[in-house]
Amino acid sequence: MTTNSPESSRATGREVLRVVRGRPTSDGAGVKLTRVIGQGDLDMLDPFLMLDEFRSDSASDYIAGFPEHPHRGFETVTYMLAGRMRHRDNQGNSGLLSAGSVQWMTAGRGILHSEMPEQEDGLMWGFQLWVNLPAKDKMTAPRYQDIAPEQVPEVALGGAVVRVVAGSFGGQDGAVQGIATQPLYLDVHLSAGASLTVPIDAGHNAFAYVYEGRADIGADAKRLERGDLGVLGSGESVTLAAPKGAARLIVVAGRPLQEPVAKYGPFVMNTPQQIVQAVEDFRAGRF
Ligand code: CO
Repeated sequence: MTTNSPESSRATGREVLRVVRGRPTSDGAGVKLTRVIGQGDLDMLDPFLMLDEFRSDSASDYIAGFPEHPHRGFETVTYMLAGRMRHRDNQGNSGLLSAGSVQWMTAGRGILHSEMPEQEDGLMWGFQLWVNLPAKDKMTAPRYQDIAPEQVPEVALGGAVVRVVAGSFGGQDGAVQGIATQPLYLDVHLSAGASLTVPIDAGHNAFAYVYEGRADIGADAKRLERGDLGVLGSGESVTLAAPKGAARLIVVAGRPLQEPVAKYGPFVMNTPQQIVQAVEDFRAGRF
């Protein structure tokens, strides 16, 4: 950016450093999904370990669900756009995730849970994000924040509507609170021609993922198509615009932990020894 550019007033605006496309894969008992973070092109974006988008109106792609499996050392965040998913764990907790709802699950020292579709046809669409926990919180007690669709605050600004899942925007605090990495998680709906500037804590890692339409992202107005994730550079805000028709995207940011990561399937710790311990604890039924 040159100093005499008309954009110089946005000198602190973040730019798109790189664009990543997800890879088709399957997980659980055979759910087809697209892995955007946690694959070769983007192994992680500290503190984010994984981002999956699942989207299908063909039951055979999702009906097998995610039968009982463990997690330790991090948080799983499920945000539903369409469909219904039933969550159950080994502590007797159960909840139904419906369109627009979010579940922020802090696995901490360990849970065993299942995530199963509660529909036999129709569209199932949403995201699962994995957020790392700092070393001091990896063995904390498990915690759930189950947020119903109507409990997610919405901010309307110009031609944009922003659902504030976590963090804050437009003076509105998000539905999810008290998370170690101080995450921002916004679901942004831009009508055709709308633009919006979103403040992001300087020093936090951030990305934008377009899940409908196309949007111009950042100080250099990089065009992102549906399915593109833009890794954002440094700065205090990001500008989002939809000059060519309506667009929907998530904007996510968080404080990088800058700690060693030892990862083995659903266990994310700091050292290989802690992974061995996690496997032993799981096998011994200590979750
Ligand atoms: Co899980």
